Amino acid sequence: MNICVVGLQWGDEGKGKVVDILAEDSEIVVRYGGGSNAGHTVVIGDERFALHLLPSGSIRPGVTCVIGNAVVVDPDVLIGEIDGLAERGISLDGRLFISENAHVVLDYHKREDQLREESLGKQKLGTTIRGIGPCYADKVGRSYAVRMGDFRDPGRLGEKLGHIIDYKNKLFGALYGAEPIGVGALAEKCARYADRLVPFTTDTTELLHEAIGAGRSVLFEGAQGSLLDLDHGTFPYVTSSNSSSLGLPAGCGVPARMVEKYLGVAKAYTTRVGAGPFPCEQDNEIGQYIRDKGNEYGTTTGRPRRCGWFDGVAVAYGVKIGSIDALALMHLDTLTGLKELNLCHAYEIDGKSTTFFPANIDRLALARPVYETLPGWDEEISEVTSFDELPTAARDYVRRIEAVVGSPIEMIGVGPKRSQTIVRT
Ligand code: GDP
Ligand code: IMO
Ligand code: MG
Repeated sequence: MNICVVGLQWGDEGKGKVVDILAEDSEIVVRYGGGSNAGHTVVIGDERFALHLLPSGSIRPGVTCVIGNAVVVDPDVLIGEIDGLAERGISLDGRLFISENAHVVLDYHKREDQLREESLGKQKLGTTIRGIGPCYADKVGRSYAVRMGDFRDPGRLGEKLGHIIDYKNKLFGALYGAEPIGVGALAEKCARYADRLVPFTTDTTELLHEAIGAGRSVLFEGAQGSLLDLDHGTFPYVTSSNSSSLGLPAGCGVPARMVEKYLGVAKAYTTRVGAGPFPCEQDNEIGQYIRDKGNEYGTTTGRPRRCGWFDGVAVAYGVKIGSIDALALMHLDTLTGLKELNLCHAYEIDGKSTTFFPANIDRLALARPVYETLPGWDEEISEVTSFDELPTAARDYVRRIEAVVGSPIEMIGVGPKRSQTIVRT
């Protein structure tokens, strides 16, 4: 079966853990969007893996890993990850395939991300400074873009880099008074990237169609979350790609109808990093309790994540646009110890009640969450292995979320480890 795992909130829902679990029954795992802004954590026993570009399935030795065309690849990060796994005895040789059409994040993209964020001051977006926005902008602009396939022809790439650096130096100098960048060091770096990454570079669309045609099971790993989607999220406080499941077909060349199941991942509460409206935010002792108990600090940047109550309106929206068949609800254990839990099932905007999430941030900023209050539980649940063993209040909370978001919950996270997952059939 081909399955897509996608985040339904503002990222960091626990996708990495869910993908690692499902990868056991998959032959191929595909990343179809985003770049090293993603941080996917997998915990197996006492070992912790934090991946940014490699699909989370890469930790399972027999699994083929694909980086699709809409991923923006930072070669330094990717080579670091390949080497990091190799040091831990996990080799990607012969089982990693990178799309020749994937665009490349180079140093000047990261520089541009940083210069722009700094110059924006209070208006900044709070990006990860991984060069994501500038790289996707160059992709759309076309004239100054580098793709993975370009590493095959160093002579032509060298010429291209000359033009690009000339252009970027004029731009950064004029806009930010920045020091010029030299092309020599970058060309040398690119030669090293080519040596390391060309052997993995191929036509991944062909590979995926052949594999699906041969009946192999493919798992598609979303990065970020549906509310960070460039077109359908809380623009401009979004990332620069279609990070909902709507990005899958364009992101790897596999039509949506070839995917049999869409599994949405949400936390039992809400978090976001970076700026932007967040109706259910609890910038108080409740938010701090969740942050401390859930270890809510960014995998990529280490920033404290903003925390708040479960937003059923937001998740229901992710369910609708994502064609979601079922949910994985993570971090239920993090709520243990809270006397009462607020769950948002509607917004009030300008005196009117709505249950359809307004992605437009001017309307979202006016949204007042309508909460229902459910009892909490005190019992530790991190060792619980079946739904029936959960405290009554925890079961009621899960069932109420199912009703509000309109999707069954078939996986429940009760801790960071692979084993701390309740599967409901
Ligand atoms: P992703 O970006 O969606 O893959 O999520 P991240 O890895 O950035 O953040 C999720 C964090 O929560 C990671 O540190 C995970 O190890 C951890 N985690 C995942 N599921 C659970 C869970 O059910 N309970 C707890 N306590 N931690 C979890
Ligand atoms: P995973 O895959 C959480 C957020 C950034 C910022 C905004 C734009 O781990 O869930 P960018 O660097 O993409 O231009 O930043 O998007 N963001 C994420 N937040 N998890 C992520 O990925 C994110 N990727 C980007 O914090 O607000
Ligand atoms: Mg993350």
